[in-house]
Amino acid sequence: MAVIEIIGGQWGDEGKGKIVELMARKADLVVRFSGGSNAGHTVINQYGTFGLHLVPSGIFYSGVKCLLGNGVVVDPAILIQEMESLNSRGISTSNLFISERAHLVMPYHLLLDGLEEEARGAGAIGTTRRGIGPAFVDKTARQGIRVADLLDKKVFFRRLSQVMQLKNVILTKVYGAQPLSVDEVYKQYLSYARTLAPHITDTQRLVDEALERKDFILLEGAQGTLLDPDFGTYPYVTSSSPMAGGGCQGSGIGPKRIDRIIGIFKAYNTRVGSGAMPTELDDETGELIREIAHEFGTTTGRPRRCGWFDAVAGAFSVRINSFTGLAITRLDVLDALPQIKICTGYHLDGKLVRGFPTQLTTLEKCQPVYEEMPGWLTPTSDIRRYRDLPLAARRYLRKMEELLSCPVDIVSVGARREETIIIKPIP
Ligand code: GDP
Ligand code: IMO
Ligand code: MG
Repeated sequence: MAVIEIIGGQWGDEGKGKIVELMARKADLVVRFSGGSNAGHTVINQYGTFGLHLVPSGIFYSGVKCLLGNGVVVDPAILIQEMESLNSRGISTSNLFISERAHLVMPYHLLLDGLEEEARGAGAIGTTRRGIGPAFVDKTARQGIRVADLLDKKVFFRRLSQVMQLKNVILTKVYGAQPLSVDEVYKQYLSYARTLAPHITDTQRLVDEALERKDFILLEGAQGTLLDPDFGTYPYVTSSSPMAGGGCQGSGIGPKRIDRIIGIFKAYNTRVGSGAMPTELDDETGELIREIAHEFGTTTGRPRRCGWFDAVAGAFSVRINSFTGLAITRLDVLDALPQIKICTGYHLDGKLVRGFPTQLTTLEKCQPVYEEMPGWLTPTSDIRRYRDLPLAARRYLRKMEELLSCPVDIVSVGARREETIIIKPIP
């Protein structure tokens, strides 16, 4: 039927979980393809409120297969905990499948994530400390341990001993930390393997079969484009590609098979962790947005930095992902603001900057150029048709379409599934 990618267009937390869960009602397969438990995807539905870190947001529908693709790094302890928590709330996880090619987050990754952050001092990235960076470093350095390795005790022990010899040298000699016991990690991970074994498979084969049947496949992005290691605000980024291209790589689908790529954007901007954010508001408006929208991290609980919508970064994100449409979330958060600003350009040394700067030192110096638009001062959460939105809200959305050169397919006016205006139908 269709393959649709749901991609974060900003710095994460755009509302991907809500949109994926909404669209998954008609899906056959929902695939997470990047990141790991650094993600925190909020879903609010008839079963309650959920903050998912690894399990795809399609899990609430019994007919939907949910895959953790090869591009994800899996912390088995967190995954098992999440599955148990879902099961205890009446949600089955029998349709959850984990790629045997996915890499494992190991205890030394968690330790190293913390130790590296401490060592960075004032330059700390502000990671989620979920071991994500160190796990992807190992994948690239060819010293990772894959989910498949867990299924063969001998292979696992040999690989673990070899890798941990080096890790313990780094832990003790570089950081002066305690070494980890190979035996303990081995036993702990074998017990995880027993729990997860029925879910481990070649997920790419499941994807192939679904493509063959012309099933409806949703690729659930994690993080956001501006956290991409290549195109994001390096080095304040994550360690796997949250972009549309990452969706192909992390699930085993060729780019020609993708039908729609929907960029999810909040109606304003937020960021957790360090790094430049040109439209950040260090004033009462920023504080007001944080209060109204309850902008605190789903994974770490940290306050999110808030600011006006940045159409320079947004247009960059549209271009590098080839978004076919936008989903604008949290429009309702702006209901209470009499004036709304939108960043249409950056000024540097009195000149307008072309595109989105590569260097952080440049981005830090950029002054946002704003266009001010009147707010609508009307509640929007009960509106279900685009034409019923206040004129000022429609003008704001049209301005986004114009500045990003991309049509708005979905407008989200509340955290709950039904609080959504669908402009371009979901297949
Ligand atoms: P994700 O990581 O992209 O899935 O986003 P998060 O779940 O981390 O953060 C998005 C937050 O916004 C969550 O608390 C959602 O419940 C909430 N949310 C999503 N869409 C809307 C919306 O349209 N309006 C409001 N008020 N909240 C929303
Ligand atoms: P979802 O999927 C927002 C940020 C961290 C930090 C940087 C690197 O919920 O949108 P990492 O732990 O990945 O090494 O941290 O990336 N970050 C996110 N910010 N939403 C996320 O995921 C994030 N995942 C990582 O705050 O700045
Ligand atoms: Mg999130």
